[in-house]
Amino acid sequence: MSLEIMPVLDVVGIGPGNSAYLTLAGRDLIAQADVVAGFRTVLAVVAEHIRGEQVVLDYRNQVEGMTRVAAALQEGKRAVLCAHGDANFSGQELVLLARQTCGMVRLMPGISSVQIACARAGLAMEETLFITFHKRADITNDQAELAATVVGGRRNVITLPRPWDFMPAALARFLLAEGAAGAQPVTVYERLTLEGEAAHTLTLSELAERAEEFSDLSIVVIPRRE
Ligand SMILES: C[S@@+](CC[C@H](N)C(=O)[O-])C[C@H]1O[C@@H](n2cnc3c(N)ncnc32)[C@H](O)[C@@H]1O
Repeated sequence: MSLEIMPVLDVVGIGPGNSAYLTLAGRDLIAQADVVAGFRTVLAVVAEHIRGEQVVLDYRNQVEGMTRVAAALQEGKRAVLCAHGDANFSGQELVLLARQTCGMVRLMPGISSVQIACARAGLAMEETLFITFHKRADITNDQAELAATVVGGRRNVITLPRPWDFMPAALARFLLAEGAAGAQPVTVYERLTLEGEAAHTLTLSELAERAEEFSDLSIVVIPRRE
């Protein structure tokens, strides 16, 4: 098959959950698609723009769902997979699934929750390390990099916790055990751009002892020291 007629799946970043942050280009791809796939909470954000068939994914049926999307592409239909935020920020498992089932994918950037956190905290991305724990893969190497960076203090860190076994308090306890200073400031941003958005600034020691659980939509920002 020549490249021009190879079917391509558009993976559209839909923003951090508030539909005001969907890009116009993403909106148009969704509206023009014959098939629109995504997790239920993601599709809900863009529901008013969907004209075609919806394929609702969950963690158990996602391969079957994406296989249906692949079949639609083979029939010459236009298909879109919606990704929360931007697929390049902690979206690799979804992109891999899309490639394995549909072949060629084209990424349409969206506004990531990580970018919103940068804006709220006033952080420059070029002075910041981004680490995600929100994945099924082993996180040991990421934990080591997190600890080295926070203890070194030369870069800001933005990190996504892992629901529910490596949430912000567990992350703080891990950092203290690795030698980070208890007085190190840290901010947890919850539900960015959504109803109930909150920012909690405290020390690592205070965070480690906090009993109240944060939302699964939380981002931890640890500013550098110099
Ligand atoms: C699998 S990651 C996907 C991130 C997404 N690709 C993005 O660019 O925002 C999901 C995690 O992102 C973070 N997240 C997503 N939306 C958020 C929001 N509105 N507020 C705070 N954190 C959010 C949370 O840590 C959540 O568990």
